[in-house]
Amino acid sequence: MIDGKLAVAIVGCGGMGGGHAIAIASGTGNAVWNTNAVTGTAFEGKMNSDISKKLTLAGVYDIDPARQKWAADRGMYNYESYEAILADDRVDIVLIATPNHLHRDEAIAAMRAGKHVLCEKPVTPTSRELVEILQVSRETGKVFYPRQNRRWDKDFLIIKKIYDENMLGKVFHIESRVHGSRGIPGDWRGKKEYGGGMMLDWGVHLLDRLLIMIPEKVKKVFCTLTHVTNDEVDDGFKMHMTFESGLTAYVEVGTCHFISLPLWYMTGDHGSAVIHDWSCRGEIARLKSWEDKDATPILAGAGLTKTMAPRGENSIETLPLPDVDFDRNELYSNLVDTINGTAKQIVTGEEALRVLKLMEAAFESAAKGVVVDFE
Ligand SMILES: NC(=O)c1ccc[n+]([C@@H]2O[C@H](COP(=O)([O-])OP(=O)(O)OC[C@H]3O[C@@H](n4cnc5c(N)ncnc54)[C@H](O)[C@@H]3O)[C@@H](O)[C@H]2O)c1
Repeated sequence: MIDGKLAVAIVGCGGMGGGHAIAIASGTGNAVWNTNAVTGTAFEGKMNSDISKKLTLAGVYDIDPARQKWAADRGMYNYESYEAILADDRVDIVLIATPNHLHRDEAIAAMRAGKHVLCEKPVTPTSRELVEILQVSRETGKVFYPRQNRRWDKDFLIIKKIYDENMLGKVFHIESRVHGSRGIPGDWRGKKEYGGGMMLDWGVHLLDRLLIMIPEKVKKVFCTLTHVTNDEVDDGFKMHMTFESGLTAYVEVGTCHFISLPLWYMTGDHGSAVIHDWSCRGEIARLKSWEDKDATPILAGAGLTKTMAPRGENSIETLPLPDVDFDRNELYSNLVDTINGTAKQIVTGEEALRVLKLMEAAFESAAKGVVVDFE
């Protein structure tokens, strides 16, 4: 503890670790998450939890001297090694923000040294490594907290609300997608040995969110990986899932798409919803009546169709997407409350393990070209 607050030390002070460092050290608890440095636009969501009252930054360690300097220039304490973090009795939480292949050893060492762990996603490249971590978490009684922060993305919270409140009737298909056009970033993410690839990078977010939204078993998985810009690891994937009720989901990550398809498409027996982008442009089309007696054939390409003729206002209504109210700092805050034993852990290791196993089923499907049974 430092000044009565839980003290965080960060290992890996690159893009993400640097963001965490500013967020915690700034005393506002959230400065870097508050404003997008590039566009200057604010992130969505309120900051209901004032984490500056709960957390403080003890310091950072990065093997790259340039990143150590970056932190020192901002008044942050530089640890000289990871071992020095582990030896510092004031440190309560180790925040792991190194490349993915390092997470297991760092997490296990931290818990064995008496620290709780907040670990960036994917918490490990394989489920086997996470099983080892969770075993040590149980043995030591230390909290292991996967940082699945995209559960607090506004687009996800909107689509989840539409799903939870049955706004579309019985939902039978969901599509979750992210498209970019720049390939894999030119760092460790392009290399297998570091736990690279887009399944591990973005798939882990999209699948985590689907699994917490749909409270069902996943029965079947079929996946193809793309290698448009990188042979070594996937630069995207297309994944079909069938849930126990028959509901289907399609998840896609693409890094060579110069026009982006919508982030979300969800359809049920009484309506459909679309969310186009992170600014959450979109709409709901909801059925007023199945009857549409005036439907007349339309000219569609070289032929006529009645089946695909759009509905009129008499049978369909267009609604705006619902508003959502959420606390952007809830993950940090819940970490502290979990450690203090005053709240249930929102993102659990078991949930992260299920997602890793689902990704492994997807890799198996892609390697063999078959549908894989899952749960
Ligand atoms: N939750 C999210 O939205 C999100 C977004 C981006 C990245 N991440 C995750 O954060 C982690 C880091 O990603 P990043 O984008 O910040 O990468 P990065 O390359 O920008 O930063 C990684 C840092 O770790 C340092 N490092 C490497 N080996 C080290 C070691 N042995 N000891 C100490 N430092 C070491 C590197 O020098 C670098 O500064 C990854 O697990 C990534 O998946 C999460």
